[in-house]
Amino acid sequence: MLPRLFPFDPLAFGLAVAREFGDIAHYSLGPLHVYQLNHPDFARQILVEQPEKFHKARLIKRAFRPFAGEGLLTSDGALWKRQRRLMQPAFHHGHLVTYGAVMVEYAARMADMFRDGQTLDVDAAMSKLTLRIVVKTLFGADVAGEAEEVGRLMVSVLDAANQRLNSALQLPSWVPTARNLREKHALARLDEILQGLIATRRSSREQANDLLSVLLRATDEDNGSGMSDQQLRDEMMTLFLAGHETTAMALTWTWYLISQHPDVEARLHAELDRVLHGRSPAAADLVQLPYTEMVVREAMRLYPPAAGFAREPIADVTIGGYTVPKGSLVTVNTYALHRDPRFFEEPERFNP
Ligand code: HEM
Repeated sequence: MLPRLFPFDPLAFGLAVAREFGDIAHYSLGPLHVYQLNHPDFARQILVEQPEKFHKARLIKRAFRPFAGEGLLTSDGALWKRQRRLMQPAFHHGHLVTYGAVMVEYAARMADMFRDGQTLDVDAAMSKLTLRIVVKTLFGADVAGEAEEVGRLMVSVLDAANQRLNSALQLPSWVPTARNLREKHALARLDEILQGLIATRRSSREQANDLLSVLLRATDEDNGSGMSDQQLRDEMMTLFLAGHETTAMALTWTWYLISQHPDVEARLHAELDRVLHGRSPAAADLVQLPYTEMVVREAMRLYPPAAGFAREPIADVTIGGYTVPKGSLVTVNTYALHRDPRFFEEPERFNP
């Protein structure tokens, strides 16, 4: 018997479904047929082997499109493929080194304000940190004066999108809540700021290294065309959406787990001391910090910031011998997969 955990505790619900029903489980949420996949081979099937048979889930699009439009996260098919190709260079190693320097600078500035013995709301601190980093790496110096405002507006919009996602099965999306009105005003102001930024950058000859500039320079190899202002706006919003809360959550859980495991903390410090000798890290140091990387990866295994993802078959499809009908919701429950004893020894233990 399944605990009646949905929608109050979706993580426990997903885990209970996986444990009780195995690799593929079907349940209904109102009119929606959900197929929860609990095996990495099935994740591979929908993401790698047969991606053309699936679109992004309507549920996700409904939650995020008002904000992220046709950006990478919410687009499909030819548009998605073209955008992936256009945006790939923005994530080349050279750019990551530049973004890494921003991350280190902002993290060091925040760490300087912490005092021994102080009680901290780590979640709030990490959220503030990654917000500053994402605004700076996406928009560069141009929003220096508006960074706080852009951050605040983005958070209002993200809050409304998350609410739509979490309540997508209970509340119709047209209900004019205070949150939805806040979102509308925030979006209008954000669009104004973004359009201004894009126009200024297009007319300037300056070659800045923030993501906006890199995306402005991106051109299609086949026909030399770049992105329209609208597409650029959608991708900037998407990168903000994808990059802010996920990274804050990964950091928060990492600090929590380190605080509970002094042995891990000691080993982590030993590696950092040995490699960095007290100086600030840079992207080039990462290869020398394997234990540090294992700590972060292990924290994301136990507490994956995106607890799952979803797709929708565009025609009936066979998964694990079952027919999964067109239009149903196919989910991969990352949280449950990461706690499956078939794939991880002692899955509940934090063991970098
Ligand atoms: C710990 C941090 C992060 C986690 C756990 C995470 C997790 C994920 C997951 C699970 C997806 C797949 C969604 C799906 O296919 O349905 C995804 C997609 C994506 N993420 Fe992240 N992400 C993180 C950080 C970031 C950052 C920092 C950025 C950019 C600044 C970013 C940009 C994106 C984009 C653009 C996509 C869509 C890719 C596509 O469909 O082509 N993510 N992320």
